[in-house]
Amino acid sequence: MGKIRVAVIGAGGIGGTHLKAYAAHAERCEIVGIADVLESAAQERAAAFGGRAFAEGEAMLDALRPDALSVCTPPKYHLPAVEMAAERGIAVLCEKPPARTLAETEAIVAAMRGKILQFAFCHRFHAPLRAAQDLIAGGRLGKLVQIENRFAFRFPRAGNSWFTEADIAGGGILIDTLAHSIDIFRALTGDEIEFVGAAVSATLPITVEDSASLLLRSRSGVLGTLNCSWVTPVAEANVRIHGSEGQAVIDYDAAAGLRYKLAEDDGWTEETFDAPDRFTAQADHFLRCLETGAPPLVRPEDGLAVMRVIEAAYQGAGGTI
Ligand SMILES: NC(=O)c1ccc[n+]([C@@H]2O[C@H](COP(=O)([O-])OP(=O)(O)OC[C@H]3O[C@@H](n4cnc5c(N)ncnc54)[C@H](O)[C@@H]3O)[C@@H](O)[C@H]2O)c1
Repeated sequence: MGKIRVAVIGAGGIGGTHLKAYAAHAERCEIVGIADVLESAAQERAAAFGGRAFAEGEAMLDALRPDALSVCTPPKYHLPAVEMAAERGIAVLCEKPPARTLAETEAIVAAMRGKILQFAFCHRFHAPLRAAQDLIAGGRLGKLVQIENRFAFRFPRAGNSWFTEADIAGGGILIDTLAHSIDIFRALTGDEIEFVGAAVSATLPITVEDSASLLLRSRSGVLGTLNCSWVTPVAEANVRIHGSEGQAVIDYDAAAGLRYKLAEDDGWTEETFDAPDRFTAQADHFLRCLETGAPPLVRPEDGLAVMRVIEAAYQGAGGTI
């Protein structure tokens, strides 16, 4: 097999991250094209990473016929971009959230049936999270009881970009950032979510939520409390996993990406990781799926499940007592 020919649609922040990740695998793939409605953005990326710049995704796919496409546009444009790829038999790595709604996500999954579709839930490729999954699978933490997650930071694009326009983003931080949190909860429990309680609020003068809290229960009884905010200035990114035999903490900001303390331990065991970052590892996995025909670790059903929880959360979030 020759090198996999990859293209990217959406040359903004995460488009750049995908390009950097593909560039790290230059021995296995070639960046052939970059499309962005802002043509200058595509041109800048092409100058940095190679490939041809286009102002229009469909023109790029027709001109280049790539093997794979990274969809890195805002959520409103995920479905049309995936449909363009599906019609041409092109494999897709689609950014999160899968789309603005469950219905759009279902359309994405239907269009890509029989083809390689990976939703970019990049935390699945975060080495400390994978190590935490191993701890759980090995029974070291005992029976899972509770999972707490906080992703919070002051987000400069809240209030002045598409991120806070419901028609483009599908909502606010709940669909944007909590999509990751929900996927992490599902990945750690290995289970479906059967209960969703949600509350959202806006501190900024915007029409979508900038802070959100979810209360979850998996079918096996694991409880989850997920908290995200775009307005609290002390940045935090962590997941605390409490089991009947110990606790593990995935701390994105610490040198030791994972620490754990078991019931019989006096102190914490810290693990550091000399592994590729999650985006490089995600691209590696996607390319491997193309090379081998293996199904992606993040399955289309995972995208649907996350969107089901998000829709349930939005439906419940306005309730007052
Ligand atoms: N996995 C992660 O951790 C992560 C991080 C950031 C963003 N994202 C996701 O990536 C997507 C993009 O986010 P971003 O931060 O890169 O946004 P961004 O605003 O930085 O970039 C989006 C780019 O898409 C372009 N664009 C818009 N409509 C287009 C269209 N129809 N065709 C081609 N290009 C188009 C814009 O001009 C812009 O350059 C979103 O779904 C977002 O939620 C994921």
